[in-house]
Amino acid sequence: MRIARIFFIGEILLIAYANDNNVCPTFKDYYTMKNNSNCWYDLAAEYSAPEIIRLMGYPVSVYTVQTADGYLLTMFRIPNYKNENSKTRKHPVYLQHGIVATCASFLGNGKNSLAFVLADAGYDVWLGNYRGTAYSEGHINLTVYDQEYWDHSMDEIALLDLPANFNTILEHSPPDSKIIYIGHSLGTSLSLMYSAEYPEMSKKVIKMMILLCPAYTLTHMVSPYRILAPIGDFILDFIKRLRLDRIVSQAEEQKRLIVPPCTESPEMMQNCMQWYNLFYGRNTDLGPETIPVYFNQLPGGTSIKVVNHAANLVLGYFRKYNYKKFNNKLYGRDHPPEYDIKKVKVPVYLVYTTQDWATPEADALNLWRNLPEESRYGKLKIDRKAFNHIDMVYGRHARQWVYDPLIQILNKFIKS
Ligand SMILES: *[C@@H]1O[C@H](CO)[C@@H](O)[C@H](O)[C@H]1NC(C)=O
Ligand SMILES: *[C@@H]1O[C@H](CO)[C@@H](O)[C@H](O)[C@H]1NC(C)=O
Repeated sequence: MRIARIFFIGEILLIAYANDNNVCPTFKDYYTMKNNSNCWYDLAAEYSAPEIIRLMGYPVSVYTVQTADGYLLTMFRIPNYKNENSKTRKHPVYLQHGIVATCASFLGNGKNSLAFVLADAGYDVWLGNYRGTAYSEGHINLTVYDQEYWDHSMDEIALLDLPANFNTILEHSPPDSKIIYIGHSLGTSLSLMYSAEYPEMSKKVIKMMILLCPAYTLTHMVSPYRILAPIGDFILDFIKRLRLDRIVSQAEEQKRLIVPPCTESPEMMQNCMQWYNLFYGRNTDLGPETIPVYFNQLPGGTSIKVVNHAANLVLGYFRKYNYKKFNNKLYGRDHPPEYDIKKVKVPVYLVYTTQDWATPEADALNLWRNLPEESRYGKLKIDRKAFNHIDMVYGRHARQWVYDPLIQILNKFIKS
C-alpha cells in the first residue's frame, strides 16, 4: 500500500517520527504537544485504512472488485478466521461510508471503531469504498485524469458498485450467507436505492440494513449549507466547463486544499471544525484528540456529480440523476424516475440522533413512515446533548451509545 501511504500521511502538526505525540484531548494541549504528557500517539492520524487494521493487530485482506462498467473498487476485509460461530460466519457485515469519506471512518476511533467492535464480536467485516474515493480510483480503461471517469452519480454507485461488492463478499462466504449492511449517511441512501431498484435480489443478498444517520429525502435539513442545494447544477456546469472535475473530486486534491490550513495550528483546527459542524450539527461529541485523525481520513474524494445528486435529497427528491433535457432520451420521460422505497423488502433498522443537522430526526422519521410496514424492523434514537452527524463514526461515546447496543440487536436478529 505504498501509494495509499503517500496520500494519507497527515500533514498534521506532526512530522514523521513514529510514536511522537500527535493528538491531544484539548486545544490548549496542542500548543505543547511534543512534550505534553496529556497528549499521545494515535496511529489513525498517520496511517491508511489497511495499515490501521494491521497495526491494531487484526488480519486484513484486500480485494479488487471490477464493476460492470469497468471501475476497479477496493474492499478491505477483517476476516474472522478463528470464529467458530456459524451464525456470525454466515452473516458477513458490509460497511458503507458516507459522502467524501472512505472506509477509514469506520477505523478512526481506536479499539472503539465500528469495524473493530464488530470484528471483536465475531463478525466477518468488509469495508467498501465506492468509485472515485481515495481507495477506489481504478478503472480498466480510464484514469482519474479522464473527465469521463468522474461522470457518475449515486445511481452507478448504488446499482453497479454495491452489487459487485456483494457478489465478491458472497463468493468468499459460506453457502447461503446473507450480508448485514451497515451504512452511514450517503451510505444509507445507496442501500435504499439498491433495494428499491432490485427488491428481489436485495432480499436474497441482504439479511438486514442498519442505517446510521439515514438519508432519504432531507427536506428538514437544519444545516445552513442547504441553501447550496438549488444551485448544484449551476456549480457542476461551471466545473465541467472549466474541466476542473478531477481537481474538485479527487481525494488528493481535496486534501491539498483543506488539510494544510486546517491542521496548521490549534486555532485553525478549531475554526475548521466549526465550519464543518455547521453541516454536522453544532453540538458535537468529537474530541479534539480525533481532529488529526479526521483530517488524515477526510476529505476522501468523490465525484462532484455525486454531491450534486445528493443535493436532490435536500430538494425532496429520492430519484435517479436529473439529466434535464436528456431525461427523455435516457428515461423516456421528462423527470427522472423515483426510487420507490415501498419496494424495499429487507428489514431496516434506523439509528438517528437529535443533534444531527445534516440528516435530522424529522427526516429519519419520515423515512420510517414511508418504508413498507414489513421492512420496519426497528429504530434507535440517540437523544443526547451533544452527538451530531459525524459523531456516529468519530464520537467519544459512539461505542457506548450506538455500537454496543447494535451488537446486541444484531446478535439477537441473526439468531431469529
Ligand atoms: C518542552 O519543549 C520545549 C521546546 O522543545 C521546551 O522549551 C520546554 O522546556 C519543554 N518542557 C518540558 C516540560 O520539558
Ligand atoms: C474498455 O476498452 C475496450 C477496448 O477499447 C472496450 O472494448 C471496452 O468496452 C471498454 N470497457 C469499458 C467498461 O469501458
